[in-house]
Amino acid sequence: MRGVLVTGGSRGIGRAVARAFAAGGDRVAVQYAGRRADAERTVRELPGTGHTLLQADLGEPGAAERTVAEAVAALGAVDVLVNNAAVAPAADTRHPIAETPLEHWQQVWRRMVDVNLLGAADLCWATAHHLVNRGTGGAIVNIGSRGAFRGEPDFPAYGATKAALHALGQSLAVALAPHGIAVTSVAPGFVATERQTGKLSGPEGERLRVESPFGRVGTPEEVAATVHFLASPAAAWASGTIVDLNGASHLRT
Ligand SMILES: NC(=O)c1ccc[n+]([C@@H]2O[C@H](COP(=O)([O-])OP(=O)(O)OC[C@H]3O[C@@H](n4cnc5c(N)ncnc54)[C@H](OP(=O)(O)O)[C@@H]3O)[C@@H](O)[C@H]2O)c1
Repeated sequence: MRGVLVTGGSRGIGRAVARAFAAGGDRVAVQYAGRRADAERTVRELPGTGHTLLQADLGEPGAAERTVAEAVAALGAVDVLVNNAAVAPAADTRHPIAETPLEHWQQVWRRMVDVNLLGAADLCWATAHHLVNRGTGGAIVNIGSRGAFRGEPDFPAYGATKAALHALGQSLAVALAPHGIAVTSVAPGFVATERQTGKLSGPEGERLRVESPFGRVGTPEEVAATVHFLASPAAAWASGTIVDLNGASHLRT
C-alpha cells in the first residue's frame, strides 16, 4: 500500500485521481486550498482507510514543504506525488494581452507562476528529498495541459506555466532516474470538470466538443486512469514522457 499525495483534490481531476489511487488500495493525502467542504467530501467518499486531508495555499512560501511533511506524518511515507493543483482559466484570471491592463496582467502572471510552477517545483523538491532519503524509489506525475503546446491566447500565463511544468518534469526525470524515481506529465485537452460546466452547457459547448473527432470532451476519470498507470512500477520506463490526453484534438509533431 503506497502513500500518495494529490494536490488540488477538492473536486475535478484531483478528486478523480484521488479516487483512482484509493480504489487501487493506496492511502491518499488530499490537499485543497479553499473548498474545505468539497475536499472533505473527496476524502469521505474514498474507498479504503487511512486517507487524510491537508489544507495549503501552494502559492505561499513554505507551503509545499509543509504539505509534504504533513502528508508523510499522516501516511507514514509518500511514494507518489501528483501535482494537480493550479490556478486555472476562469473569468477572473482571463488576461488576453491586448485588452488587459498591466496591473491585472502582472497580478495573474505572478499568481499562476507562484502556484502552478513554483508551488509544484517545491513539492517536487520536498518529495524527491523524502524519496531519496528513504531509498525506495517512487513517482511524480504532473498535470500539465494541451495549452502548453497549442497556445492559450486568453490565458498566456497559464499556458506558460504548464509548458514550464512539462519541462520541469523532463529535467527531473533525468535527475531522479538514478534514484528509481519516475517523473511524467499528462497534457489534458478540455475535461468536463465542475469548473468547466458553464462553458460546456453554454454557446461554446458544441465548439469545444467538436474539437475532438470523438465529438466530446474528456472526463476526469480518463485523466485519472492514465495518472494512476504512470505512477505504477509498470510505467517506470515511460519516465520523462508527456502524455497527450486530448481525444486527438491536437496532434504534436
Ligand atoms: N479541466 C480541464 O479542462 C483541464 C484541462 C487541462 C489541464 N487541466 C489541469 O488539471 C488540473 C485540475 O483541473 P480542474 O479542472 O479539476 O481544476 P479545478 O476544478 O479548478 O481544481 C483546481 C484544484 O486546485 C486547487 N488549488 C487552486 N489554487 C490553489 C492554491 N493556491 N493552492 C493550493 N491548491 C490550489 C483547488 O483547491 P480549492 O478548490 O480548495 O480552491 C482545486 O482543488 C489543473 O492543473 C488544470 O490546469 C484541466
